[in-house]
Amino acid sequence: MNDGSSAVAASPPPAQPAGVLDVRSVTVRFGGLTALDEVSLTAAPRQVTGIIGPNGAGKTTLLNVLCGFVRPDSGEVSLGGSRLTGLPTHRLASLGIARTLQGVGLFRGLTVLENVMAGATCHARAGFWPGLLGITRSDRDERALRERSLAALDRVGAAELAGRMPDQLPYGMRKRAALAGALVAEPKVLLLDEPASGLSEAELPELGELITRLAAAASVVVVEHRMDLMMSVCEAIAVLDFGRLIAHGTPDQVQADPAVTAAYLGTNGENGPDGETGLNVETAPDGHPSPDAEGGETPGD
Ligand SMILES: Nc1ncnc2c1ncn2[C@@H]1O[C@H](COP(=O)(O)OP(=O)(O)OP(=O)(O)O)[C@@H](O)[C@H]1O
Ligand SMILES: [Mg+2]
Repeated sequence: MNDGSSAVAASPPPAQPAGVLDVRSVTVRFGGLTALDEVSLTAAPRQVTGIIGPNGAGKTTLLNVLCGFVRPDSGEVSLGGSRLTGLPTHRLASLGIARTLQGVGLFRGLTVLENVMAGATCHARAGFWPGLLGITRSDRDERALRERSLAALDRVGAAELAGRMPDQLPYGMRKRAALAGALVAEPKVLLLDEPASGLSEAELPELGELITRLAAAASVVVVEHRMDLMMSVCEAIAVLDFGRLIAHGTPDQVQADPAVTAAYLGTNGENGPDGETGLNVETAPDGHPSPDAEGGETPGD
C-alpha cells in the first residue's frame, strides 16, 4: 500500500501476505446513489491506514462493508487471503474484525465496565470465545470477561472509569470507553469511525499515541476529518470523493495531491485540506458533535 503512488491505486498484487486486509473493486449502491464505486485498497497489519474525504464520500459505508453491516453490490474483501465478502457481521467479528461507531455507541443504563462487557458478550454469542462464554456462563467465565474488559479499559487509559455511568463522563472519555469495547475481542482489524470527533485540539496528541499503540497489535483503519491527527498517525491514506478512490499514498503525497485539494474545495469553498481541524467537522457550540451526529447507531447494530 505504501507503493509511493499518489495516484488511484492500480490492481493490487494477486497474493497478499498474511494479515493484509484487501479491498478489491468494491461497489455499493443505495438505490440510484453509488456510495462506493470500484474502490480498491489494502491495509497492512500493524499499520494505521487512514480513510479521508468530504462528507458523504463513502467512508462510513466502506467501514460498513468491512465489518459486514453492508454487503457490496460487487467486489471482494479478504483478510490474509481469506474471502470475507458476504459473511455476516458475527462471523467477521469472530474472525477478528471490530469497529467503533461514528458516534459513541454506549448503553446509557449500564456502567462503563458493563458496556465493555456487553460488547464482548455480543461477540461471544456470535461465536467469539465460545469456550469462555458458553450458553451457560459460569461465575469464573464472567470473572474472566470482567478482567479482560478492565484490561481493555486500561489499554485506552480509562480503567478508573469502570464504575461510572457514561452520562457522567466527558465526551472524550465516553469515546475511549466505546473503543475499549472493540478491544476486548483483541481484533486483528480495528475499524475506527471518527475517533476524534468532538475532541478538543489538546486531546488529539494523546488519541494519536493511543491509535499508534493499538496498531502494534492490529491493522487499524481509521476514518477521520481531523487532518492534523491523520497526518501524524497514518502510514498510508486513501482519499474518497463521491464514492471513488481519488488518491492513495503516504500522508505527504496525499496532502500534496491537487485532486485531493480540489475534492475538498468542491464541497467546502472556505477551507482547504490543510486546516487544523480538517473539513466539515460538524460540532455543536461546545465543540462536541451535535446529538444527531450519533445518528441511529446503537451498540450491537
Ligand atoms: N443506508 C443508506 N441508505 C441510503 N443512502 C445511504 C445509506 N448510507 C449512506 N448513504 C449515502 O451514501 C453516501 C455515503 O455516505 P457515508 O455515510 O458513507 O459518507 P461518509 O464519507 O461517512 O460521510 P461523513 O463524513 O459525513 O460521515 C451518502 O450520500 C449517504 O447519504
Ligand atoms: Mg461517516
